[in-house]
Amino acid sequence: MPTRFILDCDTGSDDAIAIFAAAAHPELEAIAITTVNGNVALEHVTDNTLRALDHVGAEVPVYRGAARPFARPDLPIPRDVLNEGSDFQSARLDFPDAVSTAETERSAAAFLVDAYMDDANADVTLVATGPLTNVALALAAEPRLAERIPRLVIMGGAHANGNVTAAAEFNFWVDPEAAEAVLAAGIRDVVIVTLDATHSAPLSLADCDEFDEIGTPAAAGAAKLIRHRIRHDQAAVEGEGEAASPVHDPLCLAYLVRPEAITEQVKAFVSVETTGGRTLGELVVDTRPWCPEPPNATVALRASAAVYRDFLRTAFLAGR
Ligand code: BDR
Ligand code: CA
Repeated sequence: MPTRFILDCDTGSDDAIAIFAAAAHPELEAIAITTVNGNVALEHVTDNTLRALDHVGAEVPVYRGAARPFARPDLPIPRDVLNEGSDFQSARLDFPDAVSTAETERSAAAFLVDAYMDDANADVTLVATGPLTNVALALAAEPRLAERIPRLVIMGGAHANGNVTAAAEFNFWVDPEAAEAVLAAGIRDVVIVTLDATHSAPLSLADCDEFDEIGTPAAAGAAKLIRHRIRHDQAAVEGEGEAASPVHDPLCLAYLVRPEAITEQVKAFVSVETTGGRTLGELVVDTRPWCPEPPNATVALRASAAVYRDFLRTAFLAGR
């Protein structure tokens, strides 16, 4: 039986690669995708999500989510200011216009409430690869969701340095109040795939060559996006003689089918800074043995690049 999940994302090039892998991998079944303001504005996130799905011929219902953070009117620094002078994020991913359309009768948060209040979805993991706004809105609307979501796998946070600031990773920084509300909600199985983990397993130009050789739309699409990341990502590195870049979001999906993709993790009490001048959006991981709070998350700190590659290869070879 494939692992069923809902993907809550802010597509975004690495989110798009997660969509390709989700659509192609035989052991994964995305039952729905919900979109959220993040890498780009919500209208572009939703459009990019539909383009990514169409590119691989996948039919998955898409629900539009929040256009602004949970408690703030906008990102802590407006996106235009934040991205000024950078070619890393373009509003539209370079794939043909979408033919498919998003659902219109329910918002992402309303869909999440309905989905998790339905006993038929008791096995469905929630994978969140964007700011946690939709998840926080759904929990605020229906607090029983905290007991109904069996597992939440999040790409977000950093134990060492962040990427937007020294302290904060992008997804948690965009909506710190949402991240804090979700982590404090009491969901029983929360896994946080941090920057520490994603940076430890970057993908390289050699991986792109291999994906191009595989040649399926998912593989070729991923190769194109990863090459762009390697060219434009400040986090790109020269490793073992060739350039590589962290590709954050699909690592959450690798973890679903290959848990050994995560090689170092710690169970701890975690929270998110919502007021700090220099530390807004920081994931605070309390590893003190005398921490008064019980652990509320498993924090992934390192990953295996070999397992990650193998997961993507399996997905891309399987078709689409
Ligand atoms: C995260 O932020 C976004 O830019 C990426 O899509 C990823 O989810 C990495 O910090
Ligand atoms: Ca993302």
